[in-house]
Amino acid sequence: MWRRVASLSPLISHSKPSIHNQAASTFKIWESFTSQSETVTPSKAAPFITFVLGGPGSGKGTQCAKIVEAFGFTHVSAGDLLRREIASNSAYGAVILSTIREGKIVPSQVTVQLILKEMEASDNCKFLIDGFPRSEENRKAFEEVIGAEPDVVLFFDCPEQEMVKRVLNRNQGRVDDNIETIKKRLEVFDELNWPIVNYYTQRGKLHRINAVGTVDEIFEKVRPIFAALSK
Ligand code: ADP
Ligand code: C5P
Ligand code: MG
Repeated sequence: MWRRVASLSPLISHSKPSIHNQAASTFKIWESFTSQSETVTPSKAAPFITFVLGGPGSGKGTQCAKIVEAFGFTHVSAGDLLRREIASNSAYGAVILSTIREGKIVPSQVTVQLILKEMEASDNCKFLIDGFPRSEENRKAFEEVIGAEPDVVLFFDCPEQEMVKRVLNRNQGRVDDNIETIKKRLEVFDELNWPIVNYYTQRGKLHRINAVGTVDEIFEKVRPIFAALSK
């Protein structure tokens, strides 16, 4: 069930040409064709993609670590990739830093390219894309570049008060874990998250998980979703 047999190439051919070209050069999965045959066959199965949604401090990263341990996914945190980009003094670093300080959303092209590079570098075919999509623009950019939709979408639903408490206690030295930025992040979340939740609900992919309780209690709600898929 994990390994979908569908080739990615037909999906790509429906993408817009400019983005398609960019994706094809970025994502080697699509380039790994056999050379001795007329019929092109991708050497890797299409990835199994899980998007992980939830407000700041809802426990996305914490639950992703448990899913990795139990089900062997590769964890790709959009926020971690952006922070890594800042730390590496890349061309986009300064813009990303100021965007994160303001609690706003980094342009989708930047984030999607970082996610793609991470997927490309992995031998795994099961991915948890954490903190993504954060906006409709994020969602559309990913689907256009990848040419595929996620298989599963988790949404950790947590009351604001609990999220604020957790973020203020996180203590990881993040520039955005302060009360002013948290307020802005919550506003952005409230404005942009619901269209994504509605979109994937309509497509029957969304699993809404009440994110209040202990880490283990919440994971016991997550586990059956993946256990059913691995049968
Ligand atoms: P997110 O990735 O959604 O921003 P994290 O997983 O980083 O959230 O969790 C935010 C903070 O809350 C961390 O310090 C984490 O240890 C803590 N935390 C995560 N899940 C729970 C929980 N169920 N109950 C209490 N604290 C939690
Ligand atoms: O998910 P995380 O809390 O690590 O995200 C931190 C910040 O990174 C967000 O508040 C936002 O500024 C930025 N981000 C983004 N686009 C994403 C994920 C994170 O702009 N898809
Ligand atoms: Mg996180």
